[in-house]
Amino acid sequence: MSEANMDEYVNMELNYAEALKKTVKDLRNPVIKTIIESISRDSVKHAMIYKTIGLLLKGEGALISEEEAEWVLKEIEQHIKSEEEMIRNVKSMLEGGINNKAVRFLLEAILKDEVIHHSMLKRVYEIIVKQHTLTESDIWDMVWKDVSFHGTPGG
Ligand SMILES: [Fe+2]
Ligand SMILES: [Fe+2]
Repeated sequence: MSEANMDEYVNMELNYAEALKKTVKDLRNPVIKTIIESISRDSVKHAMIYKTIGLLLKGEGALISEEEAEWVLKEIEQHIKSEEEMIRNVKSMLEGGINNKAVRFLLEAILKDEVIHHSMLKRVYEIIVKQHTLTESDIWDMVWKDVSFHGTPGG
């Protein structure tokens, strides 16, 4: 795995996204059109993710600053709640019983995405909290070292 590979994968996903768009252009069936177009958008998303992986392989992508962690955690908390509401909505529609197979298929596609969005946001939340804690304990480490250098506290 190398940065060069990542550029290749970025381009592969972007070209594929364009090819899917071309297929969709003359398509009239709304269900098939929507499904192929969402795969196209997911491919753009994959390109973005590969680009970020490329940055990480270059050693870029520093730890989040404490200031940034503080406000972004609050926002992520709200987004997690939004996803929960969306999951509830789709689930209640599905539980209501849907005879139309295309509608059921599309709702199930949304539900799968929402569940993944929810778990990704929770994961990212935990990662930020952990990084935050790590930074704090590092600071405490430094304080402790500084104190012990000048003499043990207390006693
Ligand atoms: Fe992909
Ligand atoms: Fe979502």
